Amino acid sequence: MDKLIIEGQVKLKGEVTVSGAKNSVLPIMAATLLTEDACIIKGVPDLRDTNTMIRILRALGKGVEFDKGVLVISSLKKTNYIADYKLVSTMRASFCVLGPLLGKLGKAKVSLPGGCIIGVRPVDLHLKGIKALGADVDIESGYISAKAKKLKGAHIYLGGVYGSSVLATDNVMMAAVLASGKTVIEAAACEPEVVDLADFLNKMGAKIKGQGTPTIEIEGVRCLHGATHTIIPDRIEAGTMILAALITKGDILIRNVILRHLGALIDKLEEAGVSIIKGENSLHVRYKKPLNAVNITTLPYPGFPTDMQAQMMSLMSVTPGITIITEKIYPDRFMHVSELNRMGAHIQREGPHAIVEGVARLSGSCVMASDLRASASLALAGLAAFGKTSISRIYHLERGYEKIEEKLESLGARVRREKE
Ligand code: UD1
Repeated sequence: MDKLIIEGQVKLKGEVTVSGAKNSVLPIMAATLLTEDACIIKGVPDLRDTNTMIRILRALGKGVEFDKGVLVISSLKKTNYIADYKLVSTMRASFCVLGPLLGKLGKAKVSLPGGCIIGVRPVDLHLKGIKALGADVDIESGYISAKAKKLKGAHIYLGGVYGSSVLATDNVMMAAVLASGKTVIEAAACEPEVVDLADFLNKMGAKIKGQGTPTIEIEGVRCLHGATHTIIPDRIEAGTMILAALITKGDILIRNVILRHLGALIDKLEEAGVSIIKGENSLHVRYKKPLNAVNITTLPYPGFPTDMQAQMMSLMSVTPGITIITEKIYPDRFMHVSELNRMGAHIQREGPHAIVEGVARLSGSCVMASDLRASASLALAGLAAFGKTSISRIYHLERGYEKIEEKLESLGARVRREKE
């Protein structure tokens, strides 16, 4: 296992280009199971998670080539309907092969993804959706088995205790595209990555309307064909880079962004006193003066993303004043709190809230990454800290940030990788 060593207190400067969105590419790769034709996906980030999904697709019978950000996915042999525990357990997003396998083959056996460090993460909404489409669902030996002679369109309310679900919306949408008749998903997730998936499915011949709103309508079609698609930029990587500029008092031009996908974050930063210069597909962020503390509540899109909560906590930990951070998607997603406190932050957790009292400086320490976004928050803290920070279990960062060391180094950061 590798660790990341960061010598902090360098103002990041320069230009960086954001990679394709991890949360778009994974379900879009799964969607290729809905056709025998070849699909070409461009702008694909070379991530640990992308490579896990490649292994899953190969195990399910697909031929996958991945070169210079382009995936070519074709059918090599008859599609296998069983997605194995070994692969599914390493990445929750692999559960989204359930919908397309069921839609295409009328049967699927997919390992339950299990919980993870950021919370329990149930799949009840996924199952509610496919049952409503007429699937018989059994849970046995840690696997979901779903069967249906022919799925039938239905009116489905997919809201849960914490609001909408991104991957449940993806799964149900992918199951419904080949169902007979019309499906309406109410309380659908509105995230840009759901829209990207729906756009890809429409290019394959699906008839989906309303993506990006809480009501998605799907008119079932008989079959889907191959398609070519370019993945949208990763809004979480863009957001993380914005915060890297601010926490190091730097000056960065960030290319390949869709500004409207960053609305809630930019709004919060403007409230904190940051001015962001917005270009057409780029933005320029320059630290000018100390920020104001701002309270943050995570919500489904277009609210403030839970995937930016940890990174924002790092920034607020060195911002004068008190910030209250409320986590409404994953109330236990606070593993980074104790690690940030090791670096000198003053953060107190109270249930789904974290109370952050800004400190004048963080000091480099040995810390441990517990999950993907927590590791990004520790990297940000390390960039701002005095002295050396050593982040162990850095493989978490590789799950979602393409070439992160190279990108940070190109902005002047002093980062290197070492064997644990
Ligand atoms: C996706 C993202 C992840 C992000 C999350 C929330 C991908 C690959 N991952 O994960 O990066 O943090 O959205 O924006 O796109 N829930 C239920 N029942 C279900 C499903 C979910 O109660 O059947 C709950 C979850 O526990 C959570 C909330 O709904 O509290 C939202 O989770 P969900 O949107 O499903 O997250 P994912 O799609 O797994």
